[in-house]
Amino acid sequence: MHSFDTRPIGVFDSGLGGLTAVKELKNILPNETIVYFGDTGRVPYGTRSNDTIIKYVRQDIRFLLTHGVKAIVAACGTASSVALPQLNDEFGIPLIGVLNPVCQAAVKASKCKKIGVLGTTGTIQSGAYKKGICQIDQTFSVYEKACPMFVPLVENGYIESEATYIIAREYLAPLMEEKVDTIILGCTHYPLLTKVITDIVGDGVFIINAGYETAGYTKTMLSQQGLLTDSPHKGDCRYFVSDDAEKFSYLGGMFLEETIPAGVTKIDIEVF
Ligand code: DGL
Repeated sequence: MHSFDTRPIGVFDSGLGGLTAVKELKNILPNETIVYFGDTGRVPYGTRSNDTIIKYVRQDIRFLLTHGVKAIVAACGTASSVALPQLNDEFGIPLIGVLNPVCQAAVKASKCKKIGVLGTTGTIQSGAYKKGICQIDQTFSVYEKACPMFVPLVENGYIESEATYIIAREYLAPLMEEKVDTIILGCTHYPLLTKVITDIVGDGVFIINAGYETAGYTKTMLSQQGLLTDSPHKGDCRYFVSDDAEKFSYLGGMFLEETIPAGVTKIDIEVF
């Protein structure tokens, strides 16, 4: 017999990027309630030390737990790579990161067994995607490239500007030299740069979107654990941030590709 669970799903990111996962979650699990926390006051995570990232992620999780969530999605490549391996058993509810779904999708997609990974400095330094892929299949070659300029460009709305193309060309050149046929967007901010990246690498390279893959994986995990809702009604999504709520509503619309309703709440994350 199936069991059900109407509690919300918690989702967090250092800022806006996790909304690319929320967009996909809303598509495939429309009746689930989502509580989103974007740590906009402390973004970016990717340039900080491991200790700081782990401290921040613990606080993000503690905050979401106050909303009675049934599972938490770390919709952030940096949090998933640097913090989740240490925190997995700490909170007594499923913590879902982007690594597993993304590595599985990349291994499936790559025919020439050469995969490129784009991520924040923290993510790339952790080597987590490389390890994840090699754990699935050791015969793959993985080429990683830190892209510290991408998050500020995206957070400031430089989505298809000339400056973005110039920087993206520089980041992508070493991966193209290695002739990868699959590129992992290892940071949930990067799907907004898909057009720029595809224009540079061409249609023949498969692009893996962490938000999309993680949403599908979340559905499977929740279903296996009897944690999906049986509500017949469309779920709502509540948004919390640690800095300016209005700016989040405005920019967040670009990530979600729909308007964020009024009522984004600013909280003090340092008390959690
Ligand atoms: N969206 C994030 C990630 O996936 C965060 C980027 C950052 O805060 O540096 O890595």
